[in-house]
Order: sequence, then structure tokens, then C-alpha cells
Amino acid sequence: MLVAGNWKMNGLLRDAEYLADKLASRNIQNSKTEVVIFPPFLHISAVSRIVQKANIQVGGQNCSALKSGANTGEISCEMLLDVGCSHVLVGHSERRSLHGETETSVANKYAAALDVGLTPILCVGESLEQHDLGKTQEVVLRQLSAVKETVGLGGLCSGIIAYEPLWSIGTGLAALPSQAQSVHQTIRSCLGSPGAKTRVLYGGSLNSENSLAMFVEKDIDGGLVGGASLQSEEFLRIIKLAEQL
Ligand code: PGA
Repeated sequence: MLVAGNWKMNGLLRDAEYLADKLASRNIQNSKTEVVIFPPFLHISAVSRIVQKANIQVGGQNCSALKSGANTGEISCEMLLDVGCSHVLVGHSERRSLHGETETSVANKYAAALDVGLTPILCVGESLEQHDLGKTQEVVLRQLSAVKETVGLGGLCSGIIAYEPLWSIGTGLAALPSQAQSVHQTIRSCLGSPGAKTRVLYGGSLNSENSLAMFVEKDIDGGLVGGASLQSEEFLRIIKLAEQL
């Protein structure tokens, strides 16, 4: 199981340090559950120093596909590694819909992350309209293929996939576990045998009340948590649920 916390663009440095402190003091004896948190870029160094001995990993919420040079305002994968990151979110729906990311740019970012040894978490998922038109599987498969064309099946399988239906992100309306499971099964079959160990996470309005039902599904290997990861107690409860499995 893997539980990831996406802090998005929330909080100031002191809030990030406070949250990191709270998480770092949890009891992690014998935990088989991996925990990764995604603070805003500016808070990564401080957070990573706080959690490094607590078996909690840190990642970037985005990265550049480019290596270095004249790219004002961009952050490279190597820079993320350098400040203690092990993971990076790629193609989060907010990046795709609000910041113009395309299938191509997402695929290039995924490739750039793999290149330096960061584990990318590829976010895929359909809009409400696509959902209502019954196009969920088609959309998710297209998003996976775009990355597979760039990094190959082996490359795709060496990262992590997060299924996040857009209609569920930040709405309080999580998918039904059976709905999510059916998409996860599609993702799993698209990955085939090289993807037998690839983690496929669910994301979208997860909280301590609905996470367990999600995590017990066969093809759901954990969660990507947004809003509920900003409250340490709630996020720790979700981690505890994953630890039971
Ligand atoms: P949410 O966000 O848990 O607040 O719905 C999930 C995400 O955007 O990763």
C-alpha cells in the first residue's frame, strides 16, 4: 500500500513544517505502507529534512521535462532529487486543465523523471462529461498510451499510476469502490504482466471514512489524497487504514 498526500498550493512555510512535524512523529514501527507527501516546491527542502528519519518520502507536484538552461520559472527533475525528492506527480488534472499540459508534455515529464531516477506518479482520469458519456475507459487508456509511446511499456510500469476522476477531485464525491475497481482493472490489464507490481492508486475526495472500502479492492494499491492530507490527524488515520491491509 502507498498513501500519498498532495498539499497543492496551500499553507506557508510554518504550516508545512508543522504538518511535517506531526507526520514525522507518528509510530511507523514495522509499517509496510509507504507514505509520500507533496509539498509546494518552496517547502520541499524544509519538509524533507523534517521527515527524512520518519520513513516518509517527499515529492514534487510537477516538474519540467527539460534538463536545465534558459527556462525561467521551471524546476528540473534533477533539482527535485537534489532537495530530497523521490517522487514527482505528473499530469495532475489541475495541471492538464488549468495549466495547459498536453499528452505530449505529460509524457515528456514522465520520461524526464524516470531519466534521473525519480518515481513519477502519472495522474489519469475522465471529466464529468466524459464520465456521463461512458468514455471513462477510453480516456484513461488514451492517457496511458500517450506515455507508453514515449517511455515504452517497461517505462510506464516502472512508475506509479493514479486514477483520479476529475468529477471527484475536491468535490467530496468519491467514486464508488466498485466503479474505481473497474477502472483500475482496465489500467492493470493495459499494463499486462510487466505491470504486475506497478502500483495503481485511487484519488478523489478520499478521507478516513471512505478509504478502507477503496483500499480493499483488488486492484487498488493505495490513495492519492488532496484536501484530507492537509490535516495531520485525518491523514494519519488514512495511513493507519492502509496499514491494516
Ligand atoms: P482531493 O484531491 O482528495 O482533495 O479530492 C485529490 C487530488 O487532487 O489529488
